Amino acid sequence: LADGPLNGRHVLVTSGPTHEPIDPVRYIANRSSGAQGTALAAALRDLGARVTFVTGPASVPPPEGVAVVRVETAAQMLAAVTAALPADAAVFAAAVADWRVANAAGQKMKKDGTGQPPALSFAENPDILATIARMAEGRPGLVVGFAAETERVVEHATAKRARKGCDWIVANDVSPETGIMGGSENAVTLITDQGAESWPRMGKDAVARQLAARIAGQLTGQPVA
Ligand code: C5P
Repeated sequence: LADGPLNGRHVLVTSGPTHEPIDPVRYIANRSSGAQGTALAAALRDLGARVTFVTGPASVPPPEGVAVVRVETAAQMLAAVTAALPADAAVFAAAVADWRVANAAGQKMKKDGTGQPPALSFAENPDILATIARMAEGRPGLVVGFAAETERVVEHATAKRARKGCDWIVANDVSPETGIMGGSENAVTLITDQGAESWPRMGKDAVARQLAARIAGQLTGQPVA
């Protein structure tokens, strides 16, 4: 473990998309590279935290020096998160599918020759962030969510913070013209009980380091540069 202000602290990070099976060879998913969650886990590790990294099938490799738990579905992600508690802080950077396929097939679905496509039906997935943020017992001391918005970012993210019951929301504008989704830069607004704080556009690694420092400051009660 690195020497740093987060020595002795356990931080949980979720990252990547989830895959929700349609049949054994097909799935629905969100677009997510896992880049921001991966960078954040590495930054927390570098500040000395013990990090549990619960990741869906991401396109970037997980960081070294963290405990990696690989999952596919939202249900598996919730189980892995719950099993990893207790934690001093939990950061939910994963792009979790809101729905799973309720009538997923056990065998590969085939065209039946009638020209009729299959009808998928959906069931709502558990909201992992809200579930953990609202735990009556054993809730992490600091619960941080992300909000990808395409308009009225602060307004929507502030409402999301209240709805989910988390302490902080890291909001970003992912409208296509920003080039943020799948890119290497991010422009975030941190929403806390103190209000909204917009950060300049910077690399996802720099966002991760700044956010990790803020988390360390909150957990230790000492400003961390
Ligand atoms: O409202 P929305 O789902 O966009 O909120 C995003 C935040 O909620 C992210 O922090 C994401 O990781 C978390 N989330 C979750 N479980 C879900 C859906 C979203 O943890 N099923």
